[in-house]
Amino acid sequence: MGKITICKTTDVEQGKMIKKTFDGLDILISNIDGKYYATDDSCTHSGSSLSEGELNGCTITCGWHKAEFDCKTGKLIKFPAKIRDLTSYVVSIESENVCIEM
Ligand code: FES
Repeated sequence: MGKITICKTTDVEQGKMIKKTFDGLDILISNIDGKYYATDDSCTHSGSSLSEGELNGCTITCGWHKAEFDCKTGKLIKFPAKIRDLTSYVVSIESENVCIEM
């Protein structure tokens, strides 16, 4: 699909994450110390929106059953059962726009 603009840099405060939808796909954008990261928003356990969970440092914690993922890589950090990593996307900043490679 190529590179798309998913949001403005000002849409995501430092230490926060937001959900944006593009072409029916929910993407989670995180801002860690002014660097932006993007993964799928849907938890690979039971599909909770991770934007409704918590972000501590680089760790996303799912609000439903507390699976933990690394927002930089999408890798599963901790969960009692083996579940898939999140898909992560290459992010670039162009002017004030956060762009991702789809
Ligand atoms: S839906 Fe995320 S841990 Fe269960």
